[in-house]
Amino acid sequence: MNKLTIRDVSLRGKRVFVRADLNVPLDEAGEITDDTRIRASLPTIQYVLEQGGRVILASHLGRPKGKVNPRLSLRPVAARLSALLGKPVAFAPDCVGPEVEKQAQMLRDGEVLLLENLRFHPEEEQNDPGFARGLAALAEVYVNDAFGAAHRAHASTVGITHFLAPCVAGLLMERELEYLGKALHDPARPYVAIVGGAKVSDKITLLRNFLKLADTLLIGGAMAYTFLKASGTEVGKSRVEEDKLELARNLMSAAEAQNKVLRLPVDHVVADRQDASVQAEVTSRIAPDRMGLDIGPATRDLYCRDIARAKTIVWNGPMGVFEIPQFADGTLAVARAVAQSGAVSIVGGGDSVAAVNQAGVADKITHISTGGGASLEFLSGMTLPGVEALHEGRRQAANGNKPKFQPWG
Ligand code: 3PG
Repeated sequence: MNKLTIRDVSLRGKRVFVRADLNVPLDEAGEITDDTRIRASLPTIQYVLEQGGRVILASHLGRPKGKVNPRLSLRPVAARLSALLGKPVAFAPDCVGPEVEKQAQMLRDGEVLLLENLRFHPEEEQNDPGFARGLAALAEVYVNDAFGAAHRAHASTVGITHFLAPCVAGLLMERELEYLGKALHDPARPYVAIVGGAKVSDKITLLRNFLKLADTLLIGGAMAYTFLKASGTEVGKSRVEEDKLELARNLMSAAEAQNKVLRLPVDHVVADRQDASVQAEVTSRIAPDRMGLDIGPATRDLYCRDIARAKTIVWNGPMGVFEIPQFADGTLAVARAVAQSGAVSIVGGGDSVAAVNQAGVADKITHISTGGGASLEFLSGMTLPGVEALHEGRRQAANGNKPKFQPWG
């Protein structure tokens, strides 16, 4: 990575604007149901504090569409963060304006101020220069640690970098770019890419890029049925994107032309509908009144053998409807196989991350990406504007000792 990081700049006594991705799921009562992203942001926050800096932390939460929505306030995140850090976290009722500027000015070394949801202002998503200038006015150093939002060209990820310097990557951002970048540019082989999920259309660029990068591509989830139908296999009532059959055919021909292995399920767990109360059956031929809802046992074995031989594995998207227990075996078997493979393993996308957690193997995965859309775009070979905007430069050796990164512990 040729971007400067927080280890390259002096933070002592500085007000440091840390753009994090604290977009965590909340339940009906406003309780945080999964604090992974808050935990993943801790190393950067702690590093700034240890270096004697003052943290001004900013994030979006949900999609409030430019309006104040108390249900999407970051206030509960301040409380959770304070518990995790073991120190008070002050909360600002807005993210720009004279009051917030005063709060930022009054911060002392080692203190943390969390700003209210950036997306309560429409100017955030519009990447409005005036708003970006308002954010920049709060601090003296800009740190982007929000890998999950790096595919968005917003005021807090791009605009602000025009008004504040230096602009550097945080430790989570650095780690994400390091692992995902290695999977793009310097993977150990054999390289197995596992792609699942509902739609081919959501992952066209990813599939094309994996065809270039990987040696073997394992396809699962509902998208497999578009490929199977395109190859002339009977898929019954399975979910198929009729308008993507030609594309699926082209991808399969491209795999053949490039001598790549593209595997499709050879058997299936089927039912007459997608429902927790149905009776599931295993079959290699899907009857007209049945739909495929998970990969079958023979496919599991086939895929797990490829996974066991791999040196690099990237996984995005589940193999079946794993939220329903009778259709979860394929996804959980893949999660366990990836964990046991000994390969450099990278898992991205909310569903596959949930699956490795459900299988209890998260600690055996080399890197679990905090970015859903961002990791998809990055692995598809696209440039992330939030990364592009950061300053490049040479590492300062004196400051170059890499701190231990423990986002999940
Ligand atoms: C995510 O949840 O993937 C990130 O926080 C980005 O959120 P967004 O898709 O609403 O921009």
